[in-house]
Amino acid sequence: MALKNDLLLRALKQQDTERTPVWAMRQAGRYLPEYREVRKQAGDFMSLAKNPEMVCEVTLQPLRRFPLDGVIIFSDILTIPDAMGLGLYFVTGEGPKFKNPISSERDVDNLPKIDVNSDLQYVMDGIALTSKTLDNAVPLLGFCGSPWTLLTYMVEGGSSKTFAKAKAFLLNHSQAAHKLLQKLTDASIDYLNAQIESGANAVQVFDSWGGALSPELYQVFSLDYMKQIVAGVKSKNPETPVILFSKGVEYNLSIMADSGADCLGVDWTTDLSLARKLTSGKVALQGNLDPCVLYADDEVIESEVRKVLNSFGQGNGHVFNLGHGMHPGMQPEKLAVMVNAVRKYSKR
Ligand code: CP3
Repeated sequence: MALKNDLLLRALKQQDTERTPVWAMRQAGRYLPEYREVRKQAGDFMSLAKNPEMVCEVTLQPLRRFPLDGVIIFSDILTIPDAMGLGLYFVTGEGPKFKNPISSERDVDNLPKIDVNSDLQYVMDGIALTSKTLDNAVPLLGFCGSPWTLLTYMVEGGSSKTFAKAKAFLLNHSQAAHKLLQKLTDASIDYLNAQIESGANAVQVFDSWGGALSPELYQVFSLDYMKQIVAGVKSKNPETPVILFSKGVEYNLSIMADSGADCLGVDWTTDLSLARKLTSGKVALQGNLDPCVLYADDEVIESEVRKVLNSFGQGNGHVFNLGHGMHPGMQPEKLAVMVNAVRKYSKR
């Protein structure tokens, strides 16, 4: 059956739309009291992520509050390293941690090849249930992390400010790094294709730490692997739009435009007018309101939304989003102000 609202899919393919579609990265999460309630019932983050009924519930929560044009499946980018045996857990206030981080080529060689349909079956079950419950109301997005962004967590053993260990690993053990990135790439291709087969209508690759690399290292250690992911998805699911979101990489947008992706996510440090010039109409663009604008007064949010719409300007291929995710401290009402302003000011 066809989607009742397919604005997002059309915009990702740079086709005509009556207005600009809108969703928000991290739109399901701790800023919503109803999320915190389910999270409390689950006990910990991974118990929530592994429960398909709860995944479906929290994925759909933002759609009950806001007239969004898409929902993103509730999960995490770190499910793949967890399935490879690294032992993911979360420490309150400190973020994700791995019991068994990677520190040598031997660790990389010992990583098992995963079967996404069994090892990550809980993700596919969550997607299938959510897709069925959505009943074609809006598109469902699947996602994965970029191989480089996953490597940072796997080598650091958790979050990092400097990426000291991860970058030293690239530089000192580049052969092991490439082996690890290739294993993650192969798993990510299977993972995204399985998500699409389970009901995802589009997929996004989160390269949250792409901007930590120099242009040269970015190309070799991040973009080349994301290109393989795009090609691997397109070979099985040529019609499914793929979004690449590297944060902090204005200097790379022009080469990213040739990655084969349908759309590039843009953070708030690059004007969309410049991003459009750099990408020459080859891809749609997604973004890019500074998330912190949602801490401002309603009138300010409205005027900042208009600035983003005007910066993109006339023409097809804009998906409105934040330039990065919602924060746990944000007020849900502020997201409503953003969504309604996009709907109001982007009518063709
Ligand atoms: O609504 C959505 O966007 C879907 C769900 C989603 C989550 N994580 C849920 C989550 C998505 C798309 C992600 C991706 C993700 N996870 C990224 C890439 C996106 C980005 O923001 O750059 C990264 C880097 C991660 C790794 C990760 N997982 C971090 C840094 C954290 C936060 C830890 C903390 O305590 O602040 C997580 C945990 C996580 N993933 C939470 C949520 C809602 C919060 C944990 C909780 O509820 O206890």
